[in-house]
Amino acid sequence: MKLMDLFVKMKGDLNEIEAELERAITSDHTLMTETSVHLLKAGGKRIRPIFVLLSGKFGQYRLDVMKNIAVPLELIHMASLVHDDVIDNAETRRGQLTVKSKWDNRIAMYTGDYIHGKALTVATKLDNPRIHQILSKAMVEMCIGEMEQIRDFFNTEQSVRQYLLRIRRKTALLIAISCQLGALAAETDEKYANRLYRFGYNVGMAFQIRDDVLDLCGTEKQIGKPPGSDIRQGNITLPVLLALHDTSLRPKLLQEIERIQSADGAAADTSEALRLIRSSNGIKQAEALADRYTQKALTALEGLPDLAAKKSLKDIARFVNKRNY
Ligand code: IPE
Ligand code: IPE
Ligand code: MG
Ligand code: MG
Ligand code: MG
Repeated sequence: MKLMDLFVKMKGDLNEIEAELERAITSDHTLMTETSVHLLKAGGKRIRPIFVLLSGKFGQYRLDVMKNIAVPLELIHMASLVHDDVIDNAETRRGQLTVKSKWDNRIAMYTGDYIHGKALTVATKLDNPRIHQILSKAMVEMCIGEMEQIRDFFNTEQSVRQYLLRIRRKTALLIAISCQLGALAAETDEKYANRLYRFGYNVGMAFQIRDDVLDLCGTEKQIGKPPGSDIRQGNITLPVLLALHDTSLRPKLLQEIERIQSADGAAADTSEALRLIRSSNGIKQAEALADRYTQKALTALEGLPDLAAKKSLKDIARFVNKRNY
């Protein structure tokens, strides 16, 4: 199921966002345009713009205003992916070569910066300092989250709390503010904007937990990159932390993780580690936590008016929690 198929009614608006995204990253610099259009055309779920638009439905929805927040949010996300693939040394994304592998790390670095800059170019069309404050704060938090992830590479002693704090920064906040800013741009009631923020935050937490489960259990075809990428790079995610709590598995798993760490990056064989993790309760427990975040997200929607958008938000929250790509 393509997420877009859920929103036949929104299709026109989403197509407009798509066109705006391409317009925003097209400039007379051929190389920067080529690298960023490469990522744009590789696809993606566009879940952040979808949240912006749906949240805007709770206020005065005007596409010409909404797009100035939907486009920057997708661009900030895209910029973070280009940088993320440098840090994660990822060869493929969305089933295509990453910018860093099709071109190189230096080009990827500036492509990310270029897309960030373009995000600001669009966002500054909105004459509302509060929106800019929220947006820039989220960008800062994302950097910190990614930085802390590097600090905790191969740290098998980290706590679940550390993991949760990290994914809050690197993923959940951007999704939270997609909802909040969509609401603010449509001048909704402040109460609604807060609820939508809480909805987005909890969906975002479930989203990253699901992403981390998929990295361990998905197929290459589903996730657009080889499974086990996280552990190969040293990113110890929730299912792994939980599997490490299992005393009968712990020694073998620690040994495997150490072996991966001392092997040569991309060449490291993760099959035994993946087998151990999949045989543990880690996956199920991580999924249970994602379920709890999803439940909290659904609860946050209570008290919002019964618009079609509310039903769509519920559907997406459930989709995110069960997604296979
Ligand atoms: C990937 O995000 C990065 C995470 C925050 C897990 P998405 O899964 O939204 O990526 P695309 O845009 O659909 O490719
Ligand atoms: C999310 O983490 C990346 C950002 C928030 C920038 P991942 O590293 O898990 O994302 P994928 O799995 O590569 O898409
Ligand atoms: Mg990555
Ligand atoms: Mg990463
Ligand atoms: Mg991932």
